[in-house]
Amino acid sequence: MTGFTRRQFHQSVLSAAAAAALPSVAGAQTAPVLHARTGSARLAPAQYPETRIWGYDGTVPGPILRAQQGQRIGRVFQNDLPQASSVHWHGIRIENAMDGVPGMTQAAVEPGAAFLYDFVLPDAGTYWYHPHNRTYEQMARGLYGALIVDEATGAPEVDLDEVLLLDDWRLNDDAQIAEGFGNMRDWSHAGRIGNWITVNGDGGWSRAVPRLARMRLRLVNTANARIFTLAARGLEGWVVALDGMPLAAPQPLAELTLAPAQRADLIVDVVAGEGEEAFLVSYERDGGYAVAAFPVTRSAREMRMTAPVALPPNPVPALGPLESARRADLLMEGGAMGAMAGAMMGGQRMEMREMVAAGKVWAFNGMADMADTPLIEANRGETVRIAMTNDTRWQHGMHLHGHHFRQIGRDGALGPLRDTLLMNRGETAEIAFVADNPGDWLLHCHMLEHSAGGMMTWLRVL
Ligand code: C2O
Ligand code: CU
Repeated sequence: MTGFTRRQFHQSVLSAAAAAALPSVAGAQTAPVLHARTGSARLAPAQYPETRIWGYDGTVPGPILRAQQGQRIGRVFQNDLPQASSVHWHGIRIENAMDGVPGMTQAAVEPGAAFLYDFVLPDAGTYWYHPHNRTYEQMARGLYGALIVDEATGAPEVDLDEVLLLDDWRLNDDAQIAEGFGNMRDWSHAGRIGNWITVNGDGGWSRAVPRLARMRLRLVNTANARIFTLAARGLEGWVVALDGMPLAAPQPLAELTLAPAQRADLIVDVVAGEGEEAFLVSYERDGGYAVAAFPVTRSAREMRMTAPVALPPNPVPALGPLESARRADLLMEGGAMGAMAGAMMGGQRMEMREMVAAGKVWAFNGMADMADTPLIEANRGETVRIAMTNDTRWQHGMHLHGHHFRQIGRDGALGPLRDTLLMNRGETAEIAFVADNPGDWLLHCHMLEHSAGGMMTWLRVL
């Protein structure tokens, strides 16, 4: 093979990640620094100024953090933003104290302060990291990055392993990030939908690839609220993992929906001809456009590789009997054009207009702020089922911390392991998981204006 080899790819990632100083936080432990700070990025075409952003290590996206399954990873999070922040390691079945939720698992990290994150990576796959304080603002300003966990054994043979972080920005005429993060119209509708799409912080992302090369594409939706509907042109292949977790068998790639925070690992072969371009395209109501382009160069092989086998499964415990599982119901209400007249806030019943004045427009089980008591309290190792009813006119991407779950289908069939489930208007979805990770864990909508506006609850695992 000429051109792209996995070895070269790993080397470039490693040199980029060979981070700078090793300060110490609260004692003797040392780790590389992950530095949240302001910076600028060329999101828009050259005739526009660079965009002022907030980024990990000052870049959008932040550095790719990469380690092998079973290893520990440590970073001193140094906050040099003008706001308190934290880091949440999305999708990692992490130790509770490292989950990065201010007010629940740690105090928010104030400007100028630092916090040591240090945890084991139990599962291989595609994960990501982002703040969990004023997330609707901090992520919209560019704070996010990929966390890639390589399979200890059984990684698929590919020529190129590429991480693609899809984002949706709201930029003004100078290509600067539009303010108005607390806009209640966004909060009560579909969230902050932008006007500029980037892949890895680039509005025209492109990568030359040889014809018939095989790529692993790791897609992550890092947008505040936009749902991407994707398809491939000139690329043929399979979906092999969702939200980091391998599918039992590779699924032929057709249209792919990625709600905010969801991931998909694809294995695709470049089938477009030399001199042509292959694309990932995003569909909208009014048509589609390329989000990533792959100009095709001279073929490096004679024939397509044989179909991939499934990735090795991660050590997620199998569900116990569903009939005797511990159960909870979650009613999702509110938003524009909904029937909700009011909800509980601070222990008091509030009318919708009082709620809006306080920045709340949604409710879970009639509560617009986080309840003092968990939605469910489970013994460690118990199987839990949660029936969620979306009684709103909007779609929601429901995310559970610390665990992956399966959807229980109408026929009782179990869906793939996921950490974020897209729910349509009026839909009821029941999820089940083994509560094997002790601590307090959030369950919230990952449309960030929705979670800030009331779509947030929590569970306790004893
Ligand atoms: Cu990626 Cu609580 O979120
Ligand atoms: Cu939502």
